[in-house]
Amino acid sequence: MIKKVLVVGAGQMGAGIAQVCAQAGLEVFLHDQKEEAVQKGLQSIGKLLGRAVEKGRMTEGEKIATQQRLTPSTSLQDAADCDLVIEAVVEKMEVKKAVFQELDGITPKHAILATNTSSLAITEIAATTKRPDQVIGMHFMNPVPVMKLVEIIRGLQTSEETFKEIEELAKVLGKVPVSVEDYPGFVSNRILMPMINEAIFTVYEGVATVEDVDTSMKLGMNHPMGPLTLADFIGLDTCLYIMEVLHEGFADSKYRPCPLLKQYVQAGWLGKKTGRGFYQYE
Ligand code: CAA
Ligand code: NAD
Repeated sequence: MIKKVLVVGAGQMGAGIAQVCAQAGLEVFLHDQKEEAVQKGLQSIGKLLGRAVEKGRMTEGEKIATQQRLTPSTSLQDAADCDLVIEAVVEKMEVKKAVFQELDGITPKHAILATNTSSLAITEIAATTKRPDQVIGMHFMNPVPVMKLVEIIRGLQTSEETFKEIEELAKVLGKVPVSVEDYPGFVSNRILMPMINEAIFTVYEGVATVEDVDTSMKLGMNHPMGPLTLADFIGLDTCLYIMEVLHEGFADSKYRPCPLLKQYVQAGWLGKKTGRGFYQYE
């Protein structure tokens, strides 16, 4: 039974994951190496819960109870009595491996270690631990409180028991799980990211403006957001890292990241989270 969870990384995904876990009645540590990220995450959860109360989806009492189940953390030692850790740090293999190695030494033997990676190999992350059978991909979509899908990804050594527990948890969180094998980008980003990358190429080649590319996909294909708005929303660093994983993993030039995407990331234009990407914010 999963009752206590630690979420590592309090960025946009970690905060959302912590929120849905707390709303489902789990005890949750929201952890980040940066204290201000934890505070920002808790504030954004507070705002979203407040909105849920205003909209009549939750009572004030339920909001307070949910917030009481959330504990800020800046020490990974807080994972010492957790049943599950969900990692949502930056999309870099070496960072994730270091986090998993440390967690392997801290968490109880029965604990499952899950990663919210968008594209990286679960098998490789799992191999850095002494419990690869209890390591799994649990890939939520952004914004987590709204989007129903969770991709559940088995690494080569993930046990059936681990898979079933995480599949069940996704349902408890009100999500719809799909089962995916461990290949670069899994299903969602293998299909989504090349579309976003192609949208960036159309701007790079001067085919159309940022606004007109987005309008084409919004009004022409009924997408809720244009691909460049979506790229800014996801984070251009995350988009680039995913394209690099696809490019390297499939060794196919069709996945080459657009030079303009690389340049924006080099400039620190990471999208909505830094105030500038394809659009400017505030
Ligand atoms: N966090 C939490 N809730 C949010 C939110 C956010 N960032 N943004 C919007 N919402 C909520 C709003 O509060 C609102 O709920 P209520 O009005 O009922 O309170 C609801 O979502 C609808 O919001 P809006 O009316 O303001 O705007 P909208 O109708 O345009 O919907 C959206 C916003 C749901 C984000 C919609 O634009 C959308 O679906 N966009 C596409 C999102 C998408 O494709 N996500 C997947 C990204 S890829 C990924 O996640 C995988 C990866 O690895 C990169
Ligand atoms: P983000 O940049 O918003 O947040 C990452 C957080 O991790 C930051 O607060 C950072 O301080 C923290 N962090 C970095 N290294 C850490 C460490 N060693 N220990 C503790 N905290 C650390 O990123 P995000 O958009 O939330 O993405 C996080 C993960 O979720 C990535 O793997 C990404 O691919 C995946 N993901 C992102 C999206 C999306 O749309 N952004 C969707 C699904 C999955």
